[in-house]
Amino acid sequence: MTVMMRTEIVFLLSTLCALSTSREPDPLGWLYRRSPGHQYESLQAETTGWTCPEECDCPPSFPVAMYCDGRGLTAMPNIPSRMKYLYLQNNAISAISDSALSNATNLVWLMLHHNQLTSDAIGEKAFLGLNGLQRLYLQHNSLTRIPTSLPRSLRDLRINHNKIEKVTPDDLEGMDDLTMLYLHDNAVSDLGRSLAPLKSLTMLDLSSNKLTKIPDGLPEHVNQLYVEYNSIESLPENFLSHFSQLQYVRMAHNQLMDLGVPTNTFNVTGLVELDLSFNKLERIPPVSTSLQHLYLQGNYIKEFTLGSFCSTIDPTSFSKLRTLRLDGNEITRKDIPPEAYQCLRLVPTIDI
Ligand SMILES: *[C@@H]1O[C@H](CO)[C@@H](O)[C@H](O)[C@H]1NC(C)=O
Ligand SMILES: *[C@@H]1O[C@H](CO)[C@@H](O)[C@H](O)[C@H]1NC(C)=O
Repeated sequence: MTVMMRTEIVFLLSTLCALSTSREPDPLGWLYRRSPGHQYESLQAETTGWTCPEECDCPPSFPVAMYCDGRGLTAMPNIPSRMKYLYLQNNAISAISDSALSNATNLVWLMLHHNQLTSDAIGEKAFLGLNGLQRLYLQHNSLTRIPTSLPRSLRDLRINHNKIEKVTPDDLEGMDDLTMLYLHDNAVSDLGRSLAPLKSLTMLDLSSNKLTKIPDGLPEHVNQLYVEYNSIESLPENFLSHFSQLQYVRMAHNQLMDLGVPTNTFNVTGLVELDLSFNKLERIPPVSTSLQHLYLQGNYIKEFTLGSFCSTIDPTSFSKLRTLRLDGNEITRKDIPPEAYQCLRLVPTIDI
């Protein structure tokens, strides 16, 4: 009876998995790992000839996934070539040799975050041959550079919380499908034009690095640009106008001063959120009437310039702002003229 029920459950799970798309291949992963059917799984593996390294779990109902996360591994396991989804996070793996992934040519996801990888311990050809890899998680390791020969098929590369100081043009050249790049919490001071080739990039997080300026040649389809916690003092002329889909810009905790911000920098349509908090601005920069959320707390703003939001008081063209934070500046509520609320009519209260 129990065996039968288990068989039915496994059947149900495999049906569900077959139905799910390749983007969400394993919504029920937690179930297998907690299921008591361990013996059954080994039996299944033997009878079907599907091998699975002893230190990992390979659910028979989802035979292309291998779970080796959180098991104290210090070295890469053998990887059967059928695997598409490989979970190796939360271990103490310190090296990937040139041959460690040589059988794993079908990988689509490779999760290696929270390990002890250093750049010198990754073979120069380690990732060569993973021609279908889409998602590579390397965050929270000790890498000092982006590994060479990363698959050009990548769509999502997370390499934040490492010790990367430099990105070279070759590192990302040809990654035409890369849409997400997480490089935050590293030690990058200059990116050169290394991001320019990423024509599909929409999400770029460069927060908590050592940038002193906005990198040149940012990809034009970026939708979210995060550069918080750097040391950026000035912005290039018209730098937001070359983006076609930019909606979220976060530049909090930099060193921006009025002098370094060309007048109409932020007066661009399309922006939804602009975070300039904790900089050194003394004036409110002009913004587009279409902007919805503006964060300016923790600057040195000395006057409330209504013209930064509405160039004329006109009942047909008021500001679409819903959030306006001005607290932690050098103005008080009495500096706000009464007519401000005709322009900022969607802001419930200005935080000041
Ligand atoms: C690759 O596959 C071969 C043949 O199945 C096996 O002997 C070898 O140990 C595998 N190597 C790795 C690194 O998994
Ligand atoms: C923003 O730019 C538009 C035209 O591009 C202009 O009409 C408007 O006055 C500017 N807004 C501010 C606050 O300077």
